[in-house]
Amino acid sequence: MKVLLEEAARRSIAYRSSIQSRSVAPSAEAIAGLSQFVEVLPTQGSDPNTTLELLDSAGSPAAVAMTGPRYFGFVIGGSLPITLAANWLAGAWDQNAAMHGVTPAVADIEQIAIRWMLDLLQLPDTAGAALVTGATIANFTALAAARDQVLNRAGWDARAQGLFGAPEISVVIGAEAHPTLTKSLGLLGLGQQRVATIPVDSQGRMQVNKLPDVSGPTIVCTQVGNINSGAFDPVGDICDRVCGANVWVHVDGAFGLWAAASRELSQYVAGVEKADSWATDAHKWLNVPYDCGIAFVRDENALRSAMAITAEYLLTESSGRNPSDYTPELSRRARGVEVWAALRTLGREGVDDMVSRCCRYARNFAEKLSAAGYEILNDVVLNQVLVSFGDKATTLAIVNEIQLDGTCWCGSTVWQGRTAMRISVSNWSTTDEDVAESLAAIIRIAESICRD
Ligand SMILES: Cc1ncc(COP(=O)(O)O)c(C=O)c1O
Repeated sequence: MKVLLEEAARRSIAYRSSIQSRSVAPSAEAIAGLSQFVEVLPTQGSDPNTTLELLDSAGSPAAVAMTGPRYFGFVIGGSLPITLAANWLAGAWDQNAAMHGVTPAVADIEQIAIRWMLDLLQLPDTAGAALVTGATIANFTALAAARDQVLNRAGWDARAQGLFGAPEISVVIGAEAHPTLTKSLGLLGLGQQRVATIPVDSQGRMQVNKLPDVSGPTIVCTQVGNINSGAFDPVGDICDRVCGANVWVHVDGAFGLWAAASRELSQYVAGVEKADSWATDAHKWLNVPYDCGIAFVRDENALRSAMAITAEYLLTESSGRNPSDYTPELSRRARGVEVWAALRTLGREGVDDMVSRCCRYARNFAEKLSAAGYEILNDVVLNQVLVSFGDKATTLAIVNEIQLDGTCWCGSTVWQGRTAMRISVSNWSTTDEDVAESLAAIIRIAESICRD
């Protein structure tokens, strides 16, 4: 075991040490090398060292340098070194992080990580939380609590009776809601299309004056950090507008909620603390390894009553906090350890610096691309930049060429009818030099394609 694990660490360190210099996208040759994995299920076992050897020699070259400093696709954080180290150690512990009585160490560490996040994100310190796989399941978890609670207030026990015969729930979402939010509504039996959709402005923000008058059980889904523009719904105003009724306001803040941790950006999330629940990711802007999302619910009991289970064989009776009282899963990995390690190592100042720095780089991308004659389609308020290089075909050709070039990686999108290149700066290790090098590659490729 010792030799195998030391070899795994050596190979992992070699991979991470190469991340700065390697092509962000894997070469065609490396992709072709994946054919080495195609073999029949072995009948006999084999030396584990040969399995590790194959994984590294054929797998590592084909891995996308997502964790590197010039990966600007989707919204992808790279794991901070301490979070990878904590992940290795917690992996060695291999705890089933469900119940405090069974695994007190990871249950206590997770509780501290939650308390620190509530503090950093300026959310109510009494809120309950669930550490789940990502913002998709965080949205699902928070909305499950929302559904049960608004029905409970209307005299219906959804947990026991389901939705057949239940009072109707009105669901309000913005026209720019992330598809994982609508997916969650579908999974919860609330319907992906049975919603009132509120128009948005040019940045994708819900227009408060277009909110319907609400009555009866209602869930209003807002968003901070639009996946394309980075824009923030005016959550505080929305909460003020609907308060008093049987309304639950949810915030999807997969990455945008972290603006609260930056002195420079926290103005954008002013008022979010008035909501009833929040979903976010740690594997995006906190730069912990995949996967880790968090659902926060103001009324801890609402989350517990939606999620907690027990059985004779389970040790749920405990003086400590059982993670499984708050999550859809029972068995789960100890993802709170990496969150705790990131927060302890960075501190308040470190998180502020990481988030603010990414946004400064995004502004730099926008300024330089605009100066080079290309159109920036969004107000760059956060870490997202949308660039048009002219018509759809030209923009897509440039995005494709950038991905093949390997200096950096940017994706494409359609923003309010216009095809654009998306640049998302979310990685802890990105530097001024990485931005300059990426800008040079983008402008070089754009000039050559526009010239042809
Ligand atoms: C606003 C928003 N919500 C939800 C998600 C889904 O997050 P995850 O892929 O971590 O489940 C994303 C992903 O980018 C997002 O930006």
